[in-house]
Amino acid sequence: MIIARQEDVTEAVLVAMDGAEDARLRNVMAAFIRHLHAFAREVRLTEAEYEYAIDMLNRIGQATNDSHNEGVLFSDALGLSTLVCLLNNGQNGATETAAALLGPFWRANAPLTENGGSIVRSPTPGPPLFVDCRIRDAHGLPLAGVRVDVWQASPAGMYENQDETQADMNLRGVFKTDAEGRFAFRTVKPAGYPVPTHGPTGEMLAAQKRHPYRPAHLHVLAFKPGFKTLITQVFVDDDEHLESDVVFGVTQALIGDFRKGAGPAPAADVAGEWFSLAYTFVMEPGEAVLPQPPIK
Ligand code: BEZ
Ligand code: FE
Repeated sequence: MIIARQEDVTEAVLVAMDGAEDARLRNVMAAFIRHLHAFAREVRLTEAEYEYAIDMLNRIGQATNDSHNEGVLFSDALGLSTLVCLLNNGQNGATETAAALLGPFWRANAPLTENGGSIVRSPTPGPPLFVDCRIRDAHGLPLAGVRVDVWQASPAGMYENQDETQADMNLRGVFKTDAEGRFAFRTVKPAGYPVPTHGPTGEMLAAQKRHPYRPAHLHVLAFKPGFKTLITQVFVDDDEHLESDVVFGVTQALIGDFRKGAGPAPAADVAGEWFSLAYTFVMEPGEAVLPQPPIK
């Protein structure tokens, strides 16, 4: 087709793409082109803005490496990761869900840790936290043998892969739920932290006068054949950024009850302040697939 006017371009691209054999690919790409072209028309995208956008896209790729995933981070800061999460969980977006975005910091192969063990693998600031969780199915029955990954940032503000002073896999661990669907571990109470701002995501946040903070949280990924893999986070209830999470991950169901310990801690070496967290996760029936780890 010879293009006569700007209106013709969209139709020409749609026709050119129509030969894809995969029906889902055909539909997704057609919708993408319609919306992308409509967006350019709506804002009357200038050539300078277009060049800036392409440069930004290239820089998102260039900023990504084995220990940093700028693509995931950028999508998170646009709210796209949370939107996709909420569309695909809670009975495909119909009901409340226990799921939340994965974020860019999950690593596969964290050490298998015995129930009740500690994920503090090198000296780490912050008050001790004793976590006691259950996993149940939609009928309230306990789920045994669930493989549960947990990970969190050090209260100093960084994940171990961002910080040479922490041991490899500090504040990361894998647990198996017992016959009561329980997994429990010792860690430190998480603190809020800023997402990395050295790349295009930071540039966007600064231009929009947005702070880069995530409210304090623990990440959980629960895997069991026959159930939809549950990827989620539990947030500290008194964090100042609960309502302004830079990546829009907080839902009411995910605000945990972090209790200040009264009396002796469950471990003899704890002298000062300590906390406990009890939380129950619900897994929906579905396909157990693991996401691609965003970093190595
Ligand atoms: C995180 O919580 O690990 C995270 C999520 C989204 C962007 C950056 C960090
Ligand atoms: Fe995190």
